Amino acid sequence: MIQFNQISMRFGGMVAINNCSFDIPGGQITGLIGPNGAGKTTAFNIIAGHLIPSAGQVLFDDKDITRMPSHKRQALGMSRTFQLAHEFGRMSVLENLMVAASNPAGESILNAIFRPKRGQEAEHQAYNDAMETLRFLEISNLQDEFAANLSGGQKKLLELGRALMQKPRIILLDEIGAGVNRTLLGKIADKIDQLNKTSGYTFCLIEHDLDYVSRLCDSVVVLAQGELLMKGTVDEVRNDQRVIEAYFGGGKYEDYA
Ligand SMILES: Nc1ncnc2c1ncn2[C@@H]1O[C@H](COP(=O)(O)OP(=O)(O)OP(=O)(O)O)[C@@H](O)[C@H]1O
Ligand SMILES: [Mg+2]
Repeated sequence: MIQFNQISMRFGGMVAINNCSFDIPGGQITGLIGPNGAGKTTAFNIIAGHLIPSAGQVLFDDKDITRMPSHKRQALGMSRTFQLAHEFGRMSVLENLMVAASNPAGESILNAIFRPKRGQEAEHQAYNDAMETLRFLEISNLQDEFAANLSGGQKKLLELGRALMQKPRIILLDEIGAGVNRTLLGKIADKIDQLNKTSGYTFCLIEHDLDYVSRLCDSVVVLAQGELLMKGTVDEVRNDQRVIEAYFGGGKYEDYA
């Protein structure tokens, strides 16, 4: 679905990504892993349209989207979460979901003036979608809470919910599990699995916890210092000496797990 094709990204003199290529196949869950500073978030920013690479192309369903603005990529069915959740703290959980809808009410001032009914319909649809998302994520009890009052883990669930409100085909998850306790982490994994297996969503997820990655991912892409280190199944990656070196400076994964 996504082809990340010979991408390089320079920030001034610093090379964050160096001639790196990998695919995100449709219908699968792909893991993107690597040590801190490897370039994972930068890769997501390039795929989602928040950065234009210094070289290379991003293809979405074989279409070149390298310079397409992020809102147009969203309209094509791409959605993402951010490493640092960016909810609106002084809005309720329900409102946070509604404003993330793909077709928010009152989108155009002209529509609001000349076609008020259309705005009302869109708002009604966004409300229904938001209520369904709350039920799906099992956080209906939080709907009227200010987002600022949520716990770290609950904010991650809201972040996933905001991505779902755009009714995407592919979701890029940047460390949705970081700092989340085991129970909630398991729940988030179940939701991702369910969305993939029963609704056909494609996922690419950045995560540091290899057990979590191995539970969810069909295949894994490993970045290190801005370069593609390898790609393969979770087991291939776990046992690869280069990956072990990059992560742990030697030894075996089991020694550190
Ligand atoms: N906007 C920017 N300006 C300058 N340098 C940047 C910018 N964004 C990222 N970098 C640099 O690019 C490199 C890769 O950063 P990136 O955030 O992609 O790493 P990461 O793999 O997501 O790491 P982590 O696991 O810590 O989140 C880092 O050295 C970072 O300092
Ligand atoms: Mg990152």
